[in-house]
Formats: sequence, structure tokens, C-alpha cells
Amino acid sequence: MPSVKPLNQDSIIEAVQYWRDGHLVAFGTETVYGLGADAGQARAVSQIFATKQRPQFNPLISHVADPDTAFTLGHITPLAKTLADAFWPGPMTLVLRRCDSNAICDLVTAGLDTVALRVPEHKGAQALLAAANIPIAAPSANPSGRLSPTTAEHVATAFADYSEPRLILDMGACDKGLESTVIDARADIPVLLRPGSITVEMITTATGHPPLAPDAQILSPGQLVSHYAPDAMIRLNADAPRLGEAWLGFGDDPDLSHAAVSCNLSPEADLNDAAAHLFSMLRQLDQSGAKTIAIAPIPDHDLGVAINDRLTRAAAPRNQ
Ligand code: TXA
Ligand code: MG
Repeated sequence: MPSVKPLNQDSIIEAVQYWRDGHLVAFGTETVYGLGADAGQARAVSQIFATKQRPQFNPLISHVADPDTAFTLGHITPLAKTLADAFWPGPMTLVLRRCDSNAICDLVTAGLDTVALRVPEHKGAQALLAAANIPIAAPSANPSGRLSPTTAEHVATAFADYSEPRLILDMGACDKGLESTVIDARADIPVLLRPGSITVEMITTATGHPPLAPDAQILSPGQLVSHYAPDAMIRLNADAPRLGEAWLGFGDDPDLSHAAVSCNLSPEADLNDAAAHLFSMLRQLDQSGAKTIAIAPIPDHDLGVAINDRLTRAAAPRNQ
């Protein structure tokens, strides 16, 4: 059962220690409460997906205390500078090209070469993020499919029987109650990926351009982001590698003498470890130049559902 504490110097120190130790801490922002982890620790981030019981690995927003820090993690553009000057700190998230940094792991970006960054304006959230001095990955602090929480009590009720988050910081009721506006600011014209309390009119006034809608082929919010797809072919539910294939194992490996190269998501067959390693190992095997990556069966429960979702998409023939 998570403990609920008011935000003060002591609880900030405790929260930062939990983050550094790879645990989850829920905290308030002006939009909704977030379920936060150190964005640099893939095992901790996998706990976010396990705790929310999210069936898919959507990329997560990373939160930092100030715009200068954000621009050490995502490449600044003139458009991003204009938007940051107008709306940061505040309920706006910018998607930028990812900088080369270990502070945000591949599981947070779902293997993409972009990164979503936000600088909240809530004074408590700023104090907390400044003390943490690491980017904090945080989706809304609710189990998947439930309403986003706007009070600490909502979070405590939702996760009453859970081992994570370890701590819920009571930072009052959220002013906005609506998730941040997400804008792709990589090019010259803003692309509105998720509407929020920074409105189309506000973006148009600040930038001089009405924001574009994302790709019209989008079917649902979960598909807003084009997914990381390896260049290699993917062969799922493989018993063993064939000659020249790259091998991605789970649990005990078979005879690997035919494999060109191999990785193992979790020799102990732990689904959280497998989730933590998924994107970085796929990327590594893809970069080996093997034509096919053969992948061991992954059990289809708990985080295995999200892993299989992503592997099935990676294996699907591409038509665009
Ligand atoms: O208000 C908020 O933004 C809350 C509070 C806690 O800050 N956080 C939140 O986080 O809603 P999350 O991780 O659930 O939001 C993810 C959104 C999704 O719409 C996702 O598609 C988009 O951000 N997103 C994240 N990374 C992206 C990327 N690299 N490219 C495009 N979209 C991205
Ligand atoms: Mg949510």
C-alpha cells in the first residue's frame, strides 16, 4: 500500500531516493497526477507499464524542471524555442529529435529517435524535478483504461493494493485536469499530436501558423506515433535460430551455433526485465546487419502482452 505524504523538504528527499533506487513515485502537476520513474532506468520504466497494466508500449513524456534542461535532451528548433518561450513552464509537451544521452532510455521513447519533453509550471512539481535532477518519465497515474487522476486520493484509491508507487506526494488538486497539449516541433510548422489546455488558437497566435493535424491515417490515439520498426525481418515464436539469423532469446537459450549474433531479453524469463531490454536489444540486433531476427516465444500475460503487441507490429509487412 503506497504511503501518501504532503510535499515538503523531507518527502522530496524521500521521493528522489525512491527514484534513484528504481521505484515509482506519483506526483502532482497542473494537468494530472503522474506515475513517475527515473527515465534513464529501463527496469524502473518497465514498472510503470506493469503497474498501469498497459497492453502497449506507448512512448512516455519525460518531465524536467526547466527549458534549458529539456534542450539538452531534445534538439532545439526555432519553432521549439518559440513554443517554449510562450508556454514553458506549462501544460505543453514538445516532441523533438532525441539527443544522444543516457538520461532517457529506449523504453521511454519506445525505440523512436524522438523524445517528448515537458516542463510543468506547478511550483511543487518544479521543486521536486529540480531536486531529482534527472528526467522523470510519467504517464497519468491511473490503471490503463481508467480516468486520469487529479487528486492524490484518486491515485491512492487506484493503487491501494499495489507495491508501486512507493510514495504518493499530495500536491493538491490539479488546476487543469486535462493532460498536456503534445506538439511535434521538429519542423517549421507545429503538428498537434494531442489536444490539451494550450489550444489551437494559442499555438497559432504564438507561432503564426495554425498547427497541422497529424497523419490522416491515424486510427486511434495509441497509433498516433509511427512505431519503431526494425529493418530486419522478424520471425516470431522461433524454437531456434536458422543459419545466419540474429537471435533474441527469452529464458533458456537453444543451440545458438547457427546464430549470426544473439541477445537474451531475460535469461531468468522475467517479463519486466524483458520489457526493459526490448527496444535496446532489437536495435542492437537490427544494427548487426542480419536479414532476419528470430525471436523466442514470449508468454502472453502481464508485460508479455505489451511485448507481443510490439513484436507483432514489428513483424507485420510494411506498406508505407
Ligand atoms: O499532462 C501530461 O502530459 C501528463 C502529466 C503527468 O504530465 N502526462 C502524460 O504522459 O499524459 P503520457 O506519457 O501518458 O503521454 C504520452 C503522450 C501520448 O499521446 C504519446 O503518444 C505522446 O505523449 N508521445 C510521447 N512520446 C512521443 C514521441 N516520441 N512522439 C510522438 N508522441 C509522443
Ligand atoms: Mg493517461
